[in-house]
Amino acid sequence: MNILIIGVGYVGLVSGTCFSEMGHHVTCLDINDEHIQQLNQGIIPIYEPGLEEMVSRNIKAGRLSFVTNYAVAVPKANVIFIAVDTPMSSKGSADISRVETVAETLSEYIQQNCIVVTKSTVPVGTTLKIEEIIRTKLKLKNRNIEFYVVSNPEFLKEGNAIQDFMKPDRVIIGVNHEYPAAMMREIYSPFMLSHDRLIIMDILSAELSKYAANAMLATRISFMNEMALLCEKMGADVNAVRMALGSDSRIGHKFLYPGVGFGGSCFPKDINALLHQGKNLDFELSVLKAVHETNQRQKKIILNKLDSYFSNKNGITQKTIGILGLSFKPDTDDVREAPALELIEDLLAHHVFLRLYDPVAMNKAKKRIGNYPNIVWCESEIEVAEGADALVLMTEWKQFRFLNYTSLLSKMKGRAFFDGRNQCSPEKMVREGFEYFGIGRPIIN
Ligand SMILES: NC(=O)c1ccc[n+]([C@@H]2O[C@H](COP(=O)([O-])OP(=O)(O)OC[C@H]3O[C@@H](n4cnc5c(N)ncnc54)[C@H](O)[C@@H]3O)[C@@H](O)[C@H]2O)c1
Repeated sequence: MNILIIGVGYVGLVSGTCFSEMGHHVTCLDINDEHIQQLNQGIIPIYEPGLEEMVSRNIKAGRLSFVTNYAVAVPKANVIFIAVDTPMSSKGSADISRVETVAETLSEYIQQNCIVVTKSTVPVGTTLKIEEIIRTKLKLKNRNIEFYVVSNPEFLKEGNAIQDFMKPDRVIIGVNHEYPAAMMREIYSPFMLSHDRLIIMDILSAELSKYAANAMLATRISFMNEMALLCEKMGADVNAVRMALGSDSRIGHKFLYPGVGFGGSCFPKDINALLHQGKNLDFELSVLKAVHETNQRQKKIILNKLDSYFSNKNGITQKTIGILGLSFKPDTDDVREAPALELIEDLLAHHVFLRLYDPVAMNKAKKRIGNYPNIVWCESEIEVAEGADALVLMTEWKQFRFLNYTSLLSKMKGRAFFDGRNQCSPEKMVREGFEYFGIGRPIIN
């Protein structure tokens, strides 16, 4: 079976590589010529632990290749996965123009009994729209070809993507025919050896399942962020509340961590996209609306804490703030919708001097933020601390867990530490000589 993956980003590259690791023959196609050239040399354009070795191994084994040419790749493919980006439009809805463009191009080259799979996260009804686009174009060209569409949304998490793809909790397949269901079962069979985790359903439900999963996870985060703010007002400790909640087997411990608001390329855009889909049906998703609004408020929490801390110290303007962590979460270089970037923008507007450091996301952050005279791009945590009035931890990279606090403090001008991810022990930080501020935790002196 020949598999073609269209769109070689975080999802397409991981999916294609993992399929080839399991013995399938995979071609990955992208319009980004530079990335394809790099990939053919075994250099991967994203940071994802373990991926580079796997890509090189499968290129060498002759099971994985990278191309830019639809005319060469599509006619050979039995199953085509569309994994292009579906970013947020200016109105907040999902922009599916790239998926539509791919569908139009596919209609030129697809062959008999081919299966077109939407792996991108797409609004409910998009897979059937893709089918309609291809059918209409084929008809116009008098090409009499039978093909099938499938929805197969992806649930991998950046930073743990290989493990998630190789050992998925579940694989959702939305189909309206037996043949594509059987083909998808065959493709995923090597991933199901311990037990079957394929859930087959109709196409619309499959598309909605992806949005519903992200909406549920985002709801847990916003709920905990709201509890954290309540804790601050009541003098309670959200960490204790979190442990009490998580130990209830009906609730569980995952996704109960308060912080600086959720970001990344998925949650914010998918929540907005689902709100729009509801709106188009005259149905207000009131819980989700609150989740979104709570997140917008939470993204300002560090700015508000800094503002209040410096209010009796001549204000925040002209202060020097060191930021640890720029990616939206650890183990990825993805800075899309990262809370750190929003904070940086806000602080620049307040004429603050910034010292920034991230273990892997520096290049992507530099590209997004651009050059400002007020920003110093640092090469270590220690460099970030030099002359800083305050430090802010924005991403919970493992290497920030055991910082050399004595050295950090000795370099700083001030002694405030704002822990946006509750990574540090407040008692320890105070013992070390810091003024420590977590999220939803009592302030101790
Ligand atoms: N990133 C994640 O963690 C994640 C997880 C699950 C689902 N998703 C969903 O998967 C989809 C892809 O996300 P991503 O993060 O991998 O995106 P990405 O931006 O990393 O990659 C998309 C790729 O598609 C390419 N592309 C765009 N138009 C193209 C075209 N016409 N032909 C060929 N290639 C084209 C781009 O050049 C880019 O390399 C999105 O819908 C996203 O919501 C992402």
